[in-house]
Amino acid sequence: MITLVKGFHDVLPDESPKWAFMVNTAKAVLERFGYREIIPPIMEKTELFVRGIGQVTDIVEKEMYTFEDRGGETLSLRPEATASILRAVAEHSLLRREPVLKVYCIGPMFRRERPSKGRFRQFFQVDAEIIGDDCPYTDAEAIAAAHAIMTEMGATGLMMEINSVGCVHCRSGYRKRLQEFFSGWLGELCPDCTRRLEANPMRILDCKVERCGEIAARAPLITDSLDSSCREHFHEVREALDLLGIPYRIEPRMVRGLDYYTRTAFEIVHDELGRSKAVGGGGRYDSLLGELGGPDVSGIGFAIGLERLAMGLSDDDPRFRRSMDVYVAILGEQARSMGLTVVNDLRRHGISVETRYSKMSLKAQMKLADKLGASLVMMIGDDELAGGEVTVRDMSTREQAVVKIDEVVRYVQGERA
Ligand code: HAM
Repeated sequence: MITLVKGFHDVLPDESPKWAFMVNTAKAVLERFGYREIIPPIMEKTELFVRGIGQVTDIVEKEMYTFEDRGGETLSLRPEATASILRAVAEHSLLRREPVLKVYCIGPMFRRERPSKGRFRQFFQVDAEIIGDDCPYTDAEAIAAAHAIMTEMGATGLMMEINSVGCVHCRSGYRKRLQEFFSGWLGELCPDCTRRLEANPMRILDCKVERCGEIAARAPLITDSLDSSCREHFHEVREALDLLGIPYRIEPRMVRGLDYYTRTAFEIVHDELGRSKAVGGGGRYDSLLGELGGPDVSGIGFAIGLERLAMGLSDDDPRFRRSMDVYVAILGEQARSMGLTVVNDLRRHGISVETRYSKMSLKAQMKLADKLGASLVMMIGDDELAGGEVTVRDMSTREQAVVKIDEVVRYVQGERA
């Protein structure tokens, strides 16, 4: 048997109602917030992610699925959607028509991480971006959209964590302070962090090696290096979140794992998920679009991981229960052609119907109807055939009625109303 690629997963038919629910809820909320869908490809030139996410990040250094195609071009499966979306915005000059652009994208992302609970090598994200607006209230609006998606899905146990990672100016001072601090621990940092100390000391703060994490917990905080305009920006974001009544906690150690963030950074965490506790995350990026060849404007966005979100939604939730309007029980070979016509007629009128044409006992068919979540069972046997009628059973009340064959559509429509 050929099995799944390690770290990849199937969404099986029993799980797909939950997936459809998550996707539909996210789309409905985002469209209500004024976002429109964009569908970039899942593969890009590798250079896009190197430039966008940063050369010295775990994603680019260790996790991308990168290969040379038959034409000798170096390509990568997208590890995230932001860089792809901004590439599309720059390439198609989308801001010329719409100086503030709000777009979302839903689809699979690929990172070759070590698989564990809530951590996959292919995972789905809902990603939303607002590009072309640097007002702190817009940060709050992005956070509010992420919050609304979670609450409308009924996800529980989640907490919004926010921070400011400052602008390039604050960061150059912070970088020096971090280099000074971590130099005192050189012998104890992992080889990656020792290398990062020169190139990108902020990345030491999100190293997954335990000892590095313990040392990082004592490192200076970015919040103490913010200049007055970044402090003011952060203050206004919090003010807007308070006005919106969105609960949050300030997490001064949060830096996020991608290099493009400036100022606001946030994560939605579920404490029970352990090391992979972030269900969603995002933040502002001041120079990403400019670096990718677009206009020099700021943006803010977030992404929610559907696998992690699904873990917080109960499988027994009635919203994911299988349902059908009608099950047509065909009893005997004579009834088959009448059954076929009835099924077809009902479906043509927008009624969901299941049936089995091969021989099955009534008991087995009733069991199947129950499993399928049918509201009504329509029985067609020899007697019904002779009288031009069907027997209809209401599966919740167990009441039965005899309905003329040319009345069945109207009968079901009446029951559904
Ligand atoms: P991220 O924090 O790397 O941000 O990923 C966002 C979410 O994707 C995570 O919170 C998590 O739920 C999910 N996720 C990430 N890696 C995995 C994995 N290996 N397995 C399962 N789920 C995973 C970004 O990707 C940014 N592009 C978000 C953003 C948009 N920032 C601005 N705009």
